[in-house]
Amino acid sequence: PSLDEIVNLHDFEAIAKAILSPKAWAYYSSASDDEITIRENRAAYQRIWFRPRILRDVSVVDWSTTILGQRSSLPVYISATALGKLGHPDGELNLTRAAGKHGVIQMIPTLASCAFDEIVDAAVPGQVQFLQLYVNRDREITRKYVQHAEKRGVKGLFITVDAPQLGRREKDMRMKFVDESGVAKVQENQSGIRKDEGVARAISVGASKSYVTDHIECINQSFIDPSLSWKDIPWFKSITNMPIVLKGVATPEDALMAYDYGLAGIVLSNHGGRQLDTARSGIENLIEVVAALKTRGPWPNPKFEVFVDGGVRRASDVLKAIALGASAVGVGRAFMYSFCAYGQEGVEKAFEIIQDELMMNMRLLGARTIDELSPEMVDANALHSH
Ligand code: FNR
Repeated sequence: PSLDEIVNLHDFEAIAKAILSPKAWAYYSSASDDEITIRENRAAYQRIWFRPRILRDVSVVDWSTTILGQRSSLPVYISATALGKLGHPDGELNLTRAAGKHGVIQMIPTLASCAFDEIVDAAVPGQVQFLQLYVNRDREITRKYVQHAEKRGVKGLFITVDAPQLGRREKDMRMKFVDESGVAKVQENQSGIRKDEGVARAISVGASKSYVTDHIECINQSFIDPSLSWKDIPWFKSITNMPIVLKGVATPEDALMAYDYGLAGIVLSNHGGRQLDTARSGIENLIEVVAALKTRGPWPNPKFEVFVDGGVRRASDVLKAIALGASAVGVGRAFMYSFCAYGQEGVEKAFEIIQDELMMNMRLLGARTIDELSPEMVDANALHSH
C-alpha cells in the first residue's frame, strides 16, 4: 500500500510482517518465553480509562515538551532498537533523518547497525540525540564510547539495566541467524571484540552453544557486563556530564535508589517484553513509582524524570502515561516497523499520525498543553486487576 493508505501505527506492523524476511521479522517482533509481558504491555493501557473535561476552549493545543531539558516537538522519543539494517538498508539513519526534520529525539543504540558517528553525522544542527549504553566488561571501551558521544554532542546517557543476560526469544531461536546485511562487522567495532571471541565468552557465561553461534545479538551481547551494580554508578557520573538515566527499572525500590544516587531519571521498561517474561508493564509500575518519588519532594520534580516505554501505539497511551506522572514515553517497534517498507518517509508519517492523534485526543480530553494533563484525567482503578 502507498503511505497515504496508512492510517495508524498498527498498519506499519502489518506491512513490516508482510515484507520482512522471516528472520528479520522474528528478530523485531519476538519477545521472551511465552510472550506474556509483550501482550500485557498493550493490554495494560486498555485497562486505563479517561475522565475528560469539557468546555475548556481547546482551539489551540500544544503537545511540545522538554525531555531532560531538551526541546522535543512530541512527548515521545525514539527508543533504542538494535539492528536497524535488518529492516531497511539505511537502518537507523531513517530514524535520524525523520527525527531531524520533525524535532523528535532519537536514542542511539549501542548495537546500532550503522556506525555511531554515521548516525551523529546524519543529524541536522541542533538535533538532539541520546545514547543507549550497554556496559562493556572492558570499562575502558565504555569510557571512551561515552566520552566520545558526549564530545559529539549527545545530550543524555541511558544505561540499559535490564539485560545482564539476553532473554530467550524463542521465535528468534528457531531461525538460524545468517548475517545477511553485514551488521556483525559494525558491531565488532562497537563492542571491541571479534565474533569468535564473543561466541566463546557467551558460552563461558552459560549460553548454549547452538544459540550463540546462530544468534547475532546474543554474540554481540556477550560483551555486556553482568557484574554491573550500583557501585558502578559513581564511576559513570565521574566520566560524563551528560544526564544519566537507568533504562529498565521496574520497582519503587530501585526508583528511589536511582534518585538517591543522584541520577537524572529512569525508564520504566521491560525492554519491550524481550527480557524477563511476566514482568509487569511500565505503565502499571508508574503509579507506585511516582507515589514513592513523591516522598522525596513535589511531583513533577525538575531534578528527576520518569519515562515509560513498552506497547505505546496510540496518542491515548502517551497521554495516559503523562497524566500519571511520566515526562514522556519511548516507542521502539512502531518506529522500526515504519521504516521497513517506506524508509525515512515512513517514520515521518508515523510522527504525523501521532500528532494527529494527539490533537484529537487532547481536545477531547480537555488538555491544551502537556502540563495540563493530570492524574484526575484518568481512571486507573482497573489497572491492577488482570
Ligand atoms: C529493543 N530494545 C532495546 N533496548 C535497549 O536498551 N538496547 C537495545 O539494543 C534494544 N534493542 C531492541 C531491539 C528490538 C528489535 C526491539 C523491539 C527492542 C528495547 C527498546 O528500547 C524499548 O524498550 C522497547 O522496544 C519498547 O517497547 P515497544 O515500543 O517495542 O513495544
